[in-house]
Amino acid sequence: MKELRHFLEPRDLKLQEYEELFELVDKIMANPKDYSEIARGKILAALFFEPSTRTRLSFESAMLKLGGSVIGFSEASSSSTAKGESIEDTTRMASIYGDIIAMRHPEAYSPCKASKVSTIPVINAGDGGHQHPTQTLADLITIRAKFNRLNNLKIGFCGDLKFGRTVHSLAQAFSEYENNSFVFISPKELKMPDYVKQELEQKDMPYIETDNLEDAIADLDIIYMTRVQKERFEDADEYERLKDFYILDGEKMSKAKDECIVLHPLPRVNEISCEVDSDPRAWYFKQAEYGMYGRMALIIKLLQLDCDKVLRLKYYELEGV
Ligand code: CP
Repeated sequence: MKELRHFLEPRDLKLQEYEELFELVDKIMANPKDYSEIARGKILAALFFEPSTRTRLSFESAMLKLGGSVIGFSEASSSSTAKGESIEDTTRMASIYGDIIAMRHPEAYSPCKASKVSTIPVINAGDGGHQHPTQTLADLITIRAKFNRLNNLKIGFCGDLKFGRTVHSLAQAFSEYENNSFVFISPKELKMPDYVKQELEQKDMPYIETDNLEDAIADLDIIYMTRVQKERFEDADEYERLKDFYILDGEKMSKAKDECIVLHPLPRVNEISCEVDSDPRAWYFKQAEYGMYGRMALIIKLLQLDCDKVLRLKYYELEGV
């Protein structure tokens, strides 16, 4: 019997497994047609209780590009959640109708709750202000594509580090690699949560905290901007006060390294000026593309699909068998 694996936070995969995923992404990107039938007959249940553009569409696109199919919903109001159905019961149904679940939910740990009753793999597609491990997969693939390594890098996370789930996940994953260091750039109201910092301290990973992007920028290999997460604020006035605290523009970029990259999980609001889009160091749209390939590789891994079959079919094709 196949082992049931979930992907709820970055540490659910070992470093060696990330390496295998990166290698698979390279192969898929080089020869996408080779993988276009590998998930034939499999169904992704995309259960999105919270808005999304990139994560939902890239998951759907990933499954379709692998030859599989997609069911699901893009808002809680169009599911029986609106009638009071629990996460667990919705998950039980998706386990019957689908082969793998991608779940986004406004409450932290909802995909974890789902995984307790699911008979198929559950992927956390973003849970409240907690974690977003498939965004981390996209981030790691992008950083590796630029630097050809995931160690000896200085990353600056800037913006809403309190509610920004992508930076919580990336800090966890990036601290697994040697000699990385972190600069947490935020207003005092939106600082990185203690649990993330404690994990870094336990691993002896250096970090500093500042509210000054201009001072920090010149030293960074990766400038990771984040949106101030309006939907997680209880006080609308506080959001208004903090929403434009950081705006990365051409002037600030003039102080950054020539060889740095700017990442952002997107969507952006004002925190990166559109003039930065044409800067060759702006990699955030590429990052979204890598996310789709990362999700293709993740689906193949969690469904334990037969990649050797791809090679066998290719061999027969070349040999004219
Ligand atoms: N990066 C990301 O999660 O974007 P969406 O909210 O559009 O899915």
